[in-house]
Amino acid sequence: MLLRVGVLASGRGSNLQAIMDACREGRIPAQVVVVISDQENAFALQRARDAGIPALQIKPESFAGKQEYEQAVVSALKKYQVELVCLAGYMRLVGKTMLDAFPNRVINIHPALLPAFPGLHGQRQALEYGVRFSGCTVHFVDEGCDTGPIILQAVVPVFDTDTEETLAERILEQEHRIYPEAIRLFAEGRLRIEGRRVLIEDCQGEA
Ligand code: GRF
Repeated sequence: MLLRVGVLASGRGSNLQAIMDACREGRIPAQVVVVISDQENAFALQRARDAGIPALQIKPESFAGKQEYEQAVVSALKKYQVELVCLAGYMRLVGKTMLDAFPNRVINIHPALLPAFPGLHGQRQALEYGVRFSGCTVHFVDEGCDTGPIILQAVVPVFDTDTEETLAERILEQEHRIYPEAIRLFAEGRLRIEGRRVLIEDCQGEA
């Protein structure tokens, strides 16, 4: 059985593409069943359509408030029987409505080694701080900003010659690797949350 994944994306959707490719090529036991964007012109929607996957735009401005907007997103995700929600460049803080509907079933990718450099422009923050290494993090989503339990991380070096763009590119390559990998672990039922820690069980169920 393939895990039914719903992806929320606001922009170009390269992580969405990596996830769709991994599913299509059978590298992970999952299928993207719907892609939803809060942005009309998100390239992510086009990528979904090109792959023959339902692509919905749900405009936050059309709703009275965040709760009503999230309720609409939740209804759409439920309609497609989504089991795991993946945020991929989704530029909004997820609220209680969505988290209550998908408890421990919303994950995100962030372009820094959390808890360092949460929020916007993780790559720029890392460069400006002067760290020698940065990377990316896949984590469960809670109500904070990039604060949920960490599933996987990948590390990349930061070079003296780096610009925000070159660092972002190096990190992105790792994002495209670890996001599908995290979905695979989830799909195989191998992630166990214990407090702040996410334990990865082996295939027989032993941590
Ligand atoms: C990625 O860097 C991701 O880590 C961050 O937003 C960016 C989205 O890129 N959350 P893309 O839309 O997946 O290409």
